[in-house]
Amino acid sequence: MKEVQITSTLHIFENLNELPNDVVFLMQKAIEVRGKAYAPYSNFNVGAALLLDNGEVVTGNNQENASYPSGLCAERTAIYYAGSQYPNAKVVKMAISATSKSKPTLSPIPPCGACRQAISEYEVKQETPIEIYFMGEAGQIAKSASLANLLPFVFDKSAL
Ligand code: THU
Repeated sequence: MKEVQITSTLHIFENLNELPNDVVFLMQKAIEVRGKAYAPYSNFNVGAALLLDNGEVVTGNNQENASYPSGLCAERTAIYYAGSQYPNAKVVKMAISATSKSKPTLSPIPPCGACRQAISEYEVKQETPIEIYFMGEAGQIAKSASLANLLPFVFDKSAL
């Protein structure tokens, strides 16, 4: 028997002023599209913006449904749209922002497990890391240098 340790590293920024301009722009897009989320059941609005290597910015937000599991998170709405419209482009960076009507979201809100799995598919496919930046409605921003860093021991095509 041996112990295996896996570590994840995040970089925490105190506010948007500490981030490079292209990330600030991307986060502003995420915040903007967050306001258009369809989230009447949770009242939890999430926006995601992706920068592609062809210069395109693709955004998405959460889309809920009266049949709750039929809804989709912002991150997957955005990355599936990117995959469908720009199948040969690589995703370089992703910015995510979440806000709730029931309480302030002042610390970084990470993508859920299902979204990590979905984003991982594209990171594995393109063979280059996707930088992930996530925040609440205000406050600190967390940066993960890759999706793999957020989802150790991933299930991917190597198992098939
Ligand atoms: N949600 C996202 O859009 N992204 C996440 O990573 C976590 C959760 C959405 C799904 C649902 O519409 C609402 O937030 C509450 O879970």
